Amino acid sequence: MTTLTTPATWRPEAFTAAVGDAVLAPSIHNSQPWRFRHTGDGLEVLLDERRRLAVCDPDGRMARMSCGAAAYNLRLGLAVAAGLPARFQLGSGSTVLRLWPAPPRPATPMERRLHWQIARRHTNRGPFADRPVDAVAPARLAEAARSEGGWLDFVLGDQALVVVAELIGCADARLRADRAYTAELHAWTTGANHSVEGIGPYAAGAAPHPAEILTRRDFGGLGHEATRDLSCRPAVAVLGGLGDGPDEAVRVGMALQCVLLTAADLGLATAMYSQAVEVPETRERLRQAVGRIHEPQIVLRFGYAPTTCYTNRRPIADVIEA
Ligand SMILES: Cc1cc2nc3c(=O)[nH]c(=O)nc-3n(C[C@H](O)[C@H](O)[C@H](O)COP(=O)(O)O)c2cc1C
Repeated sequence: MTTLTTPATWRPEAFTAAVGDAVLAPSIHNSQPWRFRHTGDGLEVLLDERRRLAVCDPDGRMARMSCGAAAYNLRLGLAVAAGLPARFQLGSGSTVLRLWPAPPRPATPMERRLHWQIARRHTNRGPFADRPVDAVAPARLAEAARSEGGWLDFVLGDQALVVVAELIGCADARLRADRAYTAELHAWTTGANHSVEGIGPYAAGAAPHPAEILTRRDFGGLGHEATRDLSCRPAVAVLGGLGDGPDEAVRVGMALQCVLLTAADLGLATAMYSQAVEVPETRERLRQAVGRIHEPQIVLRFGYAPTTCYTNRRPIADVIEA
């Protein structure tokens, strides 16, 4: 006699809870360009084209990275909270990732720790303390990127830091000279802390100061005093993947989120700078500066700083596709 068993899949409540984890991921300008679908036997992460930033992200690379970051959280939520991990395949077009149940297994201690950090991680645009990052941190962060198919190269030495800082500054100036760019940035700079998307005044940080080591994107924050950065030796790294196409951006997004959650686990604050990769010329010069074959996708800064402000998210119901 044969026994018929129903193949394991995620119950609707587990799916909704994992989507709750997914939406806490970072996204360019907090645009949240994602949707999620339960297909019966699996799940899909979809790119919401309507939320792609037409000016600063014409090819959708950063929207895909954002979806990749959300997909990483989703995978952690499924493995830890739902107890049924996922195997996945990169999708094509607007379906950025497909997930199916993998054989059930207990979540690893590291998965549990990273899952716990999902709600604690946030972008920190405040000043970092004058304290070098722990010696073990760079290797752990680089390993986190590698574990998701990415690379994370730390910028070593003052000279290399000056090059990266100049590229970010140059790209930022180039972007700001474009009226369409500033209009788009303004549209996502909400001016209200209660908005469910975009960047409100608390999260914006103070106005960028010319003396800052790395040029922050200007989200309309007020007052310079709070930006006085105390750290004189910042830990700066460049993240990229093993290809340059749209699918690779999704993978880099998963690597990005793994790095950010690992940083949170190490007690590190993080800030992101994507201006240099948004301008083709500076992106190429940054690639040459780090000596990689494939294009860099974002610059990250790590350090110690008090918690700043969390940005809001749209309701879960808005991102679940029927
Ligand atoms: C692909 C990508 C690019 C980003 N670029 C920048 C940037 O240039 N400057 C910045 O301050 N934040 C940047 N961010 C961070 C987002 O603004 C941030 O994730 C979003 O506002 C949500 O806030 P949270 O990270 O605190 O959850 C970027 C995030 C992603 C995913």
